[in-house]
Amino acid sequence: MTAVSGVDAVILVGGKGTRLRPLTLSAPKPMLPTAGVPFLSHLLSRIRAAGITHVVLGTSYRAEVFEEFFGDGAALGLEIDYVVEDVPLDTGGAIRNVADRLRADDAVVFNGDILSGADLGELVGTHRRAGADVTLHLQRVPDPSRFGSVPTDAEGRVTAFLEKTPNPPTDQINAGCYVFRREVIEDIPAGRPVSVERETFPSLLGDGAHVHGFVDSSYWLDVGTPEAFVRGSADLVRGVAPTSALPGPVGEALCLDGAKVADGATVTGGATVGSGAEVAAGATVDGAVLFDGAVVAPDAVVERSVLGAGARVGEGAVLRGVVLGDGAVVGAGCELLDGARVWPGVTLPDGGIRFSSDA
Ligand code: GTP
Repeated sequence: MTAVSGVDAVILVGGKGTRLRPLTLSAPKPMLPTAGVPFLSHLLSRIRAAGITHVVLGTSYRAEVFEEFFGDGAALGLEIDYVVEDVPLDTGGAIRNVADRLRADDAVVFNGDILSGADLGELVGTHRRAGADVTLHLQRVPDPSRFGSVPTDAEGRVTAFLEKTPNPPTDQINAGCYVFRREVIEDIPAGRPVSVERETFPSLLGDGAHVHGFVDSSYWLDVGTPEAFVRGSADLVRGVAPTSALPGPVGEALCLDGAKVADGATVTGGATVGSGAEVAAGATVDGAVLFDGAVVAPDAVVERSVLGAGARVGEGAVLRGVVLGDGAVVGAGCELLDGARVWPGVTLPDGGIRFSSDA
């Protein structure tokens, strides 16, 4: 990775993370345990590895937990500032709200829920060589019809921000990471909600500003949904997604200190077994995330699912693509399939309840 100097990092972490409920009832999305550490630790490790040391977190929902965990950032070799929005200001408003904490001429702004392998040095270098007002990381994806697309011209300048359509003219999408000249941030209206995607970028283009694209095809994932969250965690554990914050060796499973995996249990597919969590004999845990203290009883199957802290899966139960809130209990023999979510503290009795989102 090319080293970067003379930029601040801004990370937007104030969203409510509604698509990841009920996990985000107890922790904001960027703090969810992902491959053994808060999701944000992976992004911070990438920022530090690129040589950026000053980081401003734009917080709102559950603002206090970030500072409680990361403090002043010194343990990570960073200087972390926190800015709290009393009322959520949306993405553009959140960027404007941190303007007075910025020290450098340029700031790299990150959505706090993206895993990416893009070279931050190249991103900033492209911005500087182009002399752009804003440079967006544009990701090439195999299925651009699921996203709005962002075409660029032969020089790399962004020409439009297009809504989702079945046949987009380009496979480039907004990857949720931008370099801003500080003056451009200062020009965003202050004190009210502003969407950077729907308001700031289109209006910059309309005003003739130089909006540039840095097109990349390395690893990229928005972990905003449960399916993406478990995939992202497994990719980190298996070394597919870049990080230097993994608390163990890369492999098929990550078992944190105090995790218990019985002989005869199978834990594979990049699964994480949290501290004090237990997987009993005959159970299979594949590509799943077990938060601290979760328990999987004998002969149960847990695939591509998230078990909240202290959640319990009964003997012989089967969970595929499921989210259990903290302390939820799934009785023996139950079968829960794709999209099922059990709220914190809820108990499903033994005896073979079958539930799927399309049942
Ligand atoms: P959903 O409710 O599931 O859509 O998740 P979200 O609330 O995180 O929204 P979204 O994924 O669209 O947000 C993208 C990024 O911007 C995330 O990192 C959010 O934390 C962040 N974000 C969204 N809204 C705000 C806000 O009002 N203030 C701040 N500071 N950050 C925000």
